[in-house]
Amino acid sequence: MSTSNNKFIELSKIAGLDPDHNQEHREILSKLQGNILSGYDCHYTAYIFLKFKAQKLTETKAWIRYFAAKKLTSAKQQWELSSNAVTHNLFTNLFLSSKGYIYLALKTGDEIAWGTNTFWEMFFREGLKNNPLLDDPQPQTWEPRWQADIDAVVLLAQNDSSELASEVQETINQLTEFAEIINIDVGYNKKSSEGYVIEHFGFRDGISQPLFLKSDLEKNCSTNYWDPSAPLGLVLVKEEDLCGNGQYYFGSYCVYRKLEQNVRGFDQAVQELAQQLGLAGEEQAAALVMGRYRDGTPLSPLPANTDQNDFNYIDDPNGNSCPLQAHSRKANPRGSRNKRNESLAEQRQHRIVRRGLSYWETRELQQPHENETPYLLFQKKIDFLTAKAKANQLHGKFFTEEDKVGLLFLCFQNSIFNQFAHIQATWANDNHFSTHEVGLDPVIGQRKKHQPIQGQCWSIAAEPERKVKYNFSQFVKMTGGEFFFAPSLIFLQHLE
Ligand code: HEM
Repeated sequence: MSTSNNKFIELSKIAGLDPDHNQEHREILSKLQGNILSGYDCHYTAYIFLKFKAQKLTETKAWIRYFAAKKLTSAKQQWELSSNAVTHNLFTNLFLSSKGYIYLALKTGDEIAWGTNTFWEMFFREGLKNNPLLDDPQPQTWEPRWQADIDAVVLLAQNDSSELASEVQETINQLTEFAEIINIDVGYNKKSSEGYVIEHFGFRDGISQPLFLKSDLEKNCSTNYWDPSAPLGLVLVKEEDLCGNGQYYFGSYCVYRKLEQNVRGFDQAVQELAQQLGLAGEEQAAALVMGRYRDGTPLSPLPANTDQNDFNYIDDPNGNSCPLQAHSRKANPRGSRNKRNESLAEQRQHRIVRRGLSYWETRELQQPHENETPYLLFQKKIDFLTAKAKANQLHGKFFTEEDKVGLLFLCFQNSIFNQFAHIQATWANDNHFSTHEVGLDPVIGQRKKHQPIQGQCWSIAAEPERKVKYNFSQFVKMTGGEFFFAPSLIFLQHLE
């Protein structure tokens, strides 16, 4: 099939992309933004959140066209660099919120530019602040800068912090003509001393992801019990024929959430849980909470010679090895029974592509002085992280009690309603997750209004009958975020 006729491309049928040998796959990558089908690996990332100024439509569109043509990293460029083991000089993304689309006048009211009216599209249109399903904290309690409306986010990532700072400065100089900079978040790729990605609670992260490229699938040693492959339909959305040439291009829905982690509270609760279970150390209790040990080894007994992601819970229906409420298990039940009787195939359709990064801010950075510009604040954030990197303190728990640390959670999907929101609202936040009343996901579960706080049931594999009731929750707090869409490069380059 040639792309000149690409409106017939069936995304659900394309998996294991092989751009080395397949021209159509190369073309798909060349028009798609990077970061969606595979993650980039840069030390530092700046997310510049914008609100377009009134009466500046022409300037805004001109800049978007320029940025898309000259700066935006395509999935093809990303694939070429990573297949030649070259690290990125500068990695970039540009996402629009529904308010951003309305500003650009691509849709008004009920009309949406890239599809028919279904519930999940409405979900995107209404934005994260007004979401009726997620049981998020009220927007008034979010970080002040996050309470403003956001039209777009520009992501800039680099290994070198001073080069990133000049890139951010240059971009801001261009943006200020037509946009107000609402906020700049700075994320970093937190790595353990062994070199793998870890999050602030101290667990290896980014192990289980849907994989779309043949080269990524080939890196997995074994897939006997879990198949990580996914069709493009899991993460891409067809854009309408906006250029009027009969061609369709692809983008992806994107959820951004700033999630503050209370590491001290979490560690203390792990110790308490360990004591109640009569465990000598806390490692086992921590693993029960996450569903994996800190080094990533899953709690579900792994058959010999398999890799860390080749497992399921079929032999553990009652949660004796891995609790039914454990974060990894709730976020991906891998075919285990739940109250909705979702089949393995149905559960697989709720998977998301996770691209989160850690943040670390001091109290001063959280409470900026009046009149401090977002750029100045960004400069302080990046200087702070650079100093910590020089002192070799980015990998551990060197933060003080006053510091704020957390995850800049970012995920891509074909449908926010069917994927991110399903995991968060229907699985993580629901006490009645499986056939049992298992309680909240202990990491990300947010209590539903009118639902009583109830402790989860915990036990260890050696004594499955001895259950301990303990409420492990609320150590992750949502402090801001928005729903975005990552349009195709073609769409952005041809914005008129
Ligand atoms: C601060 C917040 C969070 C922390 C500390 C955290 C931590 C982790 C860790 C350590 C893993 C295991 C490593 C891996 O399989 O890659 C994991 C897996 C996962 N998390 Fe989270 N996570 C957080 C937020 C979220 C959110 C908000 C969602 C979605 C609503 C989510 C969805 C998932 C999924 C889908 C998996 C993979 C499960 C699997 O396929 O086995 N996480 N998370």
